[in-house]
Amino acid sequence: MIETLTALDALRGRVRGWRREGLRVGFVPTMGNLHAGHYSLVALARRHADRVVSSVFVNPTQFGPNEDFTRYPRTPDADTAGLEGAGCDVLWLPTVESMYPFGAELASHVHVPGVSAVLEGEHRPGHFDGVCTVVSRLFNQVLPDMAAFGKKDYQQLAVIRQLVADLQFPVEVVGGDIVREADGLAMSSRNQYLGVAERPRAAIIHRTLLGMRRAHQASVPRAALEAQATGQLREAGFAVDYAALRRPDLSEPADGEPGPRVALVAARLGATRLIDNLEF
Ligand code: PAF
Repeated sequence: MIETLTALDALRGRVRGWRREGLRVGFVPTMGNLHAGHYSLVALARRHADRVVSSVFVNPTQFGPNEDFTRYPRTPDADTAGLEGAGCDVLWLPTVESMYPFGAELASHVHVPGVSAVLEGEHRPGHFDGVCTVVSRLFNQVLPDMAAFGKKDYQQLAVIRQLVADLQFPVEVVGGDIVREADGLAMSSRNQYLGVAERPRAAIIHRTLLGMRRAHQASVPRAALEAQATGQLREAGFAVDYAALRRPDLSEPADGEPGPRVALVAARLGATRLIDNLEF
């Protein structure tokens, strides 16, 4: 039976008790409206830990002024049932007041330079400061041994790895594979914003990523490959923020340079902004 906790003392007491028993604690932070992608992270955490805490907190500080904070889908009952089914032991539900006890104006912020600045950082200024600020707070609240983050948010995972290494959080960060719908669309809480006519078109993002991989394998230069992908998406009606080929650390590779790559896309279909990526 899952236990829902809303008081920090109770959460800390529960985790302290597990530690006394020598149990390893896993953590899956979320913003709720959970789907199979989140549940696969809970399953991943279960494989790395003896007990799993998951948090649901729609974090205001990572949304820009014109983003979807107020309309972000909130489905507490379904989330609780789903987490229980996935094998989560504790659902941690902080309030905005307990997360930011001094209020938004006086809140201490965490900024990770470098990897935060590119791609999403260029299109969503301040987003990763909000993510790093809340993840640092969540780590201090839950005190986990490991934490699972989805690879769908590839750059977020890279930023959090740097945060953990630099601030020396004693937390093992593990990335969970992207979970896709049958047509290739990466699962996301934001998919439900898509209109009936938009939903099948959204799968073009994944097909574009596969095309970027093919082009790279055929030695198409990076600039041409990125322009081709952007053109394909525009033709399909997307407003494209980026279609980028990068090294795993998100730096720009030289043409002809061997090594692993990640292709990343961020594009809007109507009012819905979607992101996805493919490693190869
Ligand atoms: O990936 C998310 O859902 C959020 O960015 C996270 C990590 C829970 C922080 O609010």
